[in-house]
Amino acid sequence: MTSQVAGQPHPTAEPFDAVELIRIKRDGGTLSDPQVDWIIEAYTRGLIAEEQMAALSMAIFFNGLEPAELLRWTHAMIASGERLDFSSLSRPTADKHSTGGVGDKITLPLAPLVAACGVAVPQLSGRGLGHTGGTLDKLESIPGWRASLSNAEMLRQLEKVGAVICAAGSGLAPADKKLYALRDVTGTVEAIPLIASSIMSKKIAEGTGSLVLDVKVGSGAFMKTRADATELARTMVELGTGAGVTTVALITDISTPLGLTAGNALEVAESVEVLAGGGPADVVELTVALAREMLMAAGRSDLDPAEVLASGRAMDVWKAMIRAQGGDPDAALPTAKETQLITADRDGLVTGLDAMAVGVAAWRLGAGRARREDQVQAAAGVQLHAKPGDRVRAGQPLVTLHTDTPERFERGAAALQGAYTIEDDALAAAPVPVVIDRIG
Ligand code: URA
Repeated sequence: MTSQVAGQPHPTAEPFDAVELIRIKRDGGTLSDPQVDWIIEAYTRGLIAEEQMAALSMAIFFNGLEPAELLRWTHAMIASGERLDFSSLSRPTADKHSTGGVGDKITLPLAPLVAACGVAVPQLSGRGLGHTGGTLDKLESIPGWRASLSNAEMLRQLEKVGAVICAAGSGLAPADKKLYALRDVTGTVEAIPLIASSIMSKKIAEGTGSLVLDVKVGSGAFMKTRADATELARTMVELGTGAGVTTVALITDISTPLGLTAGNALEVAESVEVLAGGGPADVVELTVALAREMLMAAGRSDLDPAEVLASGRAMDVWKAMIRAQGGDPDAALPTAKETQLITADRDGLVTGLDAMAVGVAAWRLGAGRARREDQVQAAAGVQLHAKPGDRVRAGQPLVTLHTDTPERFERGAAALQGAYTIEDDALAAAPVPVVIDRIG
């Protein structure tokens, strides 16, 4: 271990010592620009050990980063990899990022809807880990669909079809890939500066002209309180705007799952219903609200996305987008080998449904992975038959569990124990609006 003596030349060729920089953050100090640049660059090169970066992340978790440090940290993460450039496209670009919630399939109808309104959507997505599903896992339930595209393929598809949802290549913000995997196993995911720099470094490197952030708040989300969600949203909007990307954020509720499905093929089917003009009201409302923001941010607010959705043009783009990536949009989606019904044990009004419990149930049934290398079941998941605001009778279906491996039913059902709140003569509480606030 090296430790620099004041006034002496550093004993290695490196300009700083990781331990000293950890101590600065541990003691509440501020890192200089060169120190931040070196940390990210040296960590990406493998010169800073994982345990040192874990200690630094924990120090940041407790002591935060000053605004100038955060800006530099984000830019150093962007500089760790390539930056895409969509400026050659004939239309403006807009992207959306959601901080993740149970049943959040909004990207699927949203990308083709915005593209149908004349704005190109380069949506680089990931696979799921834990109780929230990943967009790529959902789309991979469509026979033939492939997630990996080269940059040239992506550009061609954006020009021709207008929308692409694909895997983020390993060249984008590689520092974040390493750091996020480390945070995941060291209890340091839920730190606002680390989340903000992680998300925004990838989105800025991706090269979108404008960005709409869907910051979730509620039981199924990283941010459990509105104050934390607002702080995260403000931080990300400032980072995006500072980098020249028009950025706005919606704070949206995820105390209860979005729509009536959680699970890969189940969510694709629900998204197709939305594109066909049906689907659950909350999914439609959020899709249209985010589309409006994306069009506005891209300077194309002349079209009403609700009308475009009703016209069927977004469905046409969806089919073209799926076909362009090898998928068959008309093929039957996989269905689970086994299903099991859970029924209401009493009459009453549903006044609550815990999103986290639904996410964990879908995950335990096989829709999600516990480790990065796990396979997901395309057809596994949870289908809801009742949501807050619905009256139910004893014996009426509440939930259908879907899985290919029936030995999972017991643990899936256990996750849902107590998830529903059903009350006698409760006055129906005013429903929580999906969109709670707008920052930007
Ligand atoms: N999503 C990300 O990409 N990064 C985080 O830190 C949290 C959510």
